[in-house]
Amino acid sequence: MPLVIAIDGPAASGKGTLAKRLATHYGLPHLDTGLLYRAVAFALIQSGLSLEDRAAAARAAETLDAGSLTDTRLRDRAMGEAASQISAVPEVRAALLAWQRRFAADPAGAVLDGRDIGTVVCPAASVKLFITASSLERARRRHRELAGRGEAASLEGILADIEARDARDSSRSAAPLRMADDAVRLDTTELDAAAAFDEARAIIERARATI
Ligand code: DC
Repeated sequence: MPLVIAIDGPAASGKGTLAKRLATHYGLPHLDTGLLYRAVAFALIQSGLSLEDRAAAARAAETLDAGSLTDTRLRDRAMGEAASQISAVPEVRAALLAWQRRFAADPAGAVLDGRDIGTVVCPAASVKLFITASSLERARRRHRELAGRGEAASLEGILADIEARDARDSSRSAAPLRMADDAVRLDTTELDAAAAFDEARAIIERARATI
């Protein structure tokens, strides 16, 4: 039986770090689906097109090049905002859905993290985790991460960005950020990455025992 692990949660909840660790531990391929949306936004910006040009956004999603996903500029703060904006376009989501489902169909299984993995992309995943943390703790983490990459920003500014992004991602009509009914919630406010990994592994092992 392939092991498909679906990980969702709001911005900077620690889901990416957790997903990477789980993928290494279980020897599975990992897809950070936020990168797909970031890459579409980046392609538009590079071509001088408006993020509000829905038809151009849909075309960029349909012609997305997997090779572009490693560009470090996708991780910039502004790209998270831009990705959140274009991710509300249903045609963008539809184009990226096929891409994500192909990835998840690996015979061994896969780990995917994003906003709608448990609800839309992999509704039949073996295990679904919903990762949360307080918005202040998430802002602190993002602040540290950006500082580590040499991108200076105020904690207050990041907190405001995160809260605005959560509100947009949760209120859009196409595949909003929502915990799947059969997901397990993991609050990492008080957990470091190692402790979050241990908790997640325990949840996955319990789920596997009942498959
Ligand atoms: O996880 P991230 O910060 O890289 O995601 C950037 C944006 O992309 C996020 O604010 C909303 C969108 N996104 C989405 O709509 N669905 C996903 N599965 C992943 C990301």
